[in-house]
Amino acid sequence: MQRKGLLKSYVFHELKERLKCEPTYESGMILSSMCTKPHKFAVSIFTKFIEKNVGDATLFPKVFEMEKEVVKMIGDLLSNPHPSGHIVSGGSEGNLLALWVARKMKKGKNKVIIPKSAHVSLRRAIDILNLKLVEVNLNQNFQVNINEVKRAIDDKTLALVGVAGSTDLGIIDPIDELSELASTHDLYLHVDAAFGGFVIPFLKELGYKVNDFDFRLKGVDSITIDPHKMGLCPIPAGGIIFRNESYLNLIKERIPYGAYGEFEYATITSTRSGAAVLAVWALLKHFGFEGYLKIVRKCMRVTEALVEEINEIKGLALMTPPIMNIVGIRSENIDLHLIVNELAKRGWFISYLPTHIRLVIMPHVKLWHIKRFCKDLKEIVKLHKFD
Ligand SMILES: Cc1ncc(COP(=O)(O)O)c(C=O)c1O
Repeated sequence: MQRKGLLKSYVFHELKERLKCEPTYESGMILSSMCTKPHKFAVSIFTKFIEKNVGDATLFPKVFEMEKEVVKMIGDLLSNPHPSGHIVSGGSEGNLLALWVARKMKKGKNKVIIPKSAHVSLRRAIDILNLKLVEVNLNQNFQVNINEVKRAIDDKTLALVGVAGSTDLGIIDPIDELSELASTHDLYLHVDAAFGGFVIPFLKELGYKVNDFDFRLKGVDSITIDPHKMGLCPIPAGGIIFRNESYLNLIKERIPYGAYGEFEYATITSTRSGAAVLAVWALLKHFGFEGYLKIVRKCMRVTEALVEEINEIKGLALMTPPIMNIVGIRSENIDLHLIVNELAKRGWFISYLPTHIRLVIMPHVKLWHIKRFCKDLKEIVKLHKFD
């Protein structure tokens, strides 16, 4: 650190210069992210209440209370009349908390069965908690192979994990079948709907055929659902929802240094952004179910337009018809790495995965962006005589 401070204007100028090469969501050229430009109203609430610490219930009891209301609203979306949970740093922390609770509930057991499509944070959570990872293959629909799950269950198994909106393709596992298995074998079932949680309930309402994934399935114990992804809230706003309060009680700890006595917390960090909680509270109230419905409807229209365009490009194919606003593109004879590089030269950001390229159609991606993207993609395929 330098000894003497610099003028704010100087620092700000340097900051702007340093960051100007980074893309913005607004440009519409980011197709690789599960986050988006947070909604203006949520940002205004976030900045207005920036000093709030929801981790200190003695100083900020109202924020603490409003977090419970957030959990209730999200619980409602997930068909849970008695939810408990928290707004945390992200989906990764949500997954870690869920497996921590699972380990406390099922003492003496250590095996966690997850699909190969599970987000990396689940493998890391299993490692942190010193549990045993069992990864199960996918079926031809890229869902967890239920027969393999059945075969993997033994008397050491403590939990099953299902994904509702996989990171690579937006696939929803057969959570109903996992739920049956969990009930039959007395296992904990966690559903990672970090992305899909703010999509699937609206897809259902819009008439899309999507599997049940939430607490209406009796075996589901917890769900990760992130407001900072399709919930359009500012980072950090991950969400973890448990079936009821008894789950959180297992990981609650007393903090003795509150302003007028002790208080409890159940998250990994004891200090947490109250601004994030209030931004989620405000946006959920402002949007309501119908607000999110509109957003998901728009994303799906753009996704469907993209699918039509991709189907017209010789040499490219969909990995699978998209379930939600995530599209995977594969090719037998075209070097996808080359395509990604050429697209990058034209300013597009897309994910290059081992089996396919992935496009996430977030709310900042409009129809005209997709038209431009597909024009570029077609040109690149032609230019390199791929077709
Ligand atoms: C399905 C799923 N779960 C968990 C996570 C991790 O969320 P975060 O990056 O907010 O920690 C992601 C991130 O993309 C995800 O796609």
